[in-house]
Amino acid sequence: MNDILPDATPAWQRVEQAIQAVLQAYGYAEIRLPLLERTELFSRSIGEVTDIVEKEMYTFTDRNGDSLTLRPEGTAGCVRAVIENGLVRSEQRLWYGGPMFRHERPQKGRYRQFHQVGVETFGLPGPDIDAEHILICARVWRALGLDSLKLELNSLGTPASRAAYRADLVGYLATHRERLDDDSRRRLEGNPLRVLDSKNPEMRAVIEGAPRLLDYLDDESRGHLDGLLAVLDATGIEYTLNPRLVRGLDYYERTVYEWVTAELGAQGTVCAGGRYDGLVEHLGGKTTPAAGFAIGLERIVALLEARGALAAAGPHAYLVLAGAQATVEGARLAESLRDELGGIRLVSNCGGGSLKTQIKRADRSGATLALILAEAEIERGEVAVKHLRAEVPQRSVPIAEVGHYLAQALGLTGTEAVGGPMRRG
Ligand code: HAM
Repeated sequence: MNDILPDATPAWQRVEQAIQAVLQAYGYAEIRLPLLERTELFSRSIGEVTDIVEKEMYTFTDRNGDSLTLRPEGTAGCVRAVIENGLVRSEQRLWYGGPMFRHERPQKGRYRQFHQVGVETFGLPGPDIDAEHILICARVWRALGLDSLKLELNSLGTPASRAAYRADLVGYLATHRERLDDDSRRRLEGNPLRVLDSKNPEMRAVIEGAPRLLDYLDDESRGHLDGLLAVLDATGIEYTLNPRLVRGLDYYERTVYEWVTAELGAQGTVCAGGRYDGLVEHLGGKTTPAAGFAIGLERIVALLEARGALAAAGPHAYLVLAGAQATVEGARLAESLRDELGGIRLVSNCGGGSLKTQIKRADRSGATLALILAEAEIERGEVAVKHLRAEVPQRSVPIAEVGHYLAQALGLTGTEAVGGPMRRG
């Protein structure tokens, strides 16, 4: 579980803002959900025989003797919330964000507390909404300048068509039992499709030879997949059909997909999702088609960091205050600059200090300019402006004109001031 320190948060904010702006453009509404749910919610939705439920959940008994679990993902809680609050009566386009918890073996790109932004839609049965989700992802990647992400896609069919496939797969795997590793033998009993997802290179040959799920699709699922591919083709989204993509959570049917990159080593999936038409009913709601995806924010931030695209913006100006009256005059000046120049990042010196110390602080803050207000300046009604990053001679500017000067020097475009202007007595 990581602290996200101040030098890293600008990258996070940039990613979160880009995602939210895209979701707004598609008409999605935010839902905020608890971090804790009843343990049973996750075992019933994600599936008893999955890595998450078998070995990764943070589960404890509370003072009432109820078994609770820190959410390992967001879909289950979102489904519970829409059922409980009667939201499944009409179609819903929802998103949520926040931390998720899985007791995995930590490594690069894989943490025990990590963050997702997830999308879930309810009441929309067609491939059009699956396509919309993929288009949203593609737009987020473009907004962030990520051009190396590849889309892998599969259809798991319906539970009925999957049952036929499952029987043949079990038959095939059973004849190769001696070549299966321990994990796969265990999965063969409880959740044979998960054998296809094995990361063990020695299993590759067996898996390559296995029957392919796509060859077992029922007509409706085939039509659904074709409908999705038609929209992706028409909108220029590239994809690879991967018949071995099965996902690690049991609630999916038909469409499943992952966005992957080769740039992050073993943890290359940055976003994943699909359709889960049976889950709302399974958890006690009325039959409601549903689909969604979740983006792993740590992995997106890591990709941007690898590109060096994330320098934190320092303040525009640091206000140096020397002399007895400077605290009061400085507060007045700083507030009026923040009123006048929406978007300005202005740090006022606090805690005194000599002129030299304060200029050093100004430099360390990363500010572009130092604004110096000392006794002589206050007497003359001026501010001294020192450029900290460019060879520009220091100059004095009348207090009334400082705002104008800064707007010019910093290229501030005058958006509305945060909080609106101060009322002054
Ligand atoms: P998931 O594939 O388990 O799906 O997780 C989605 C994404 O979260 C992964 O692709 C990855 O980027 C990120 N992620 C997962 N585990 C970790 C970890 N330990 N450390 C860092 N990042 C991680 C779900 O959670 C589904 N709820 C997605 C969904 C929403 N399907 C339908 N609606």
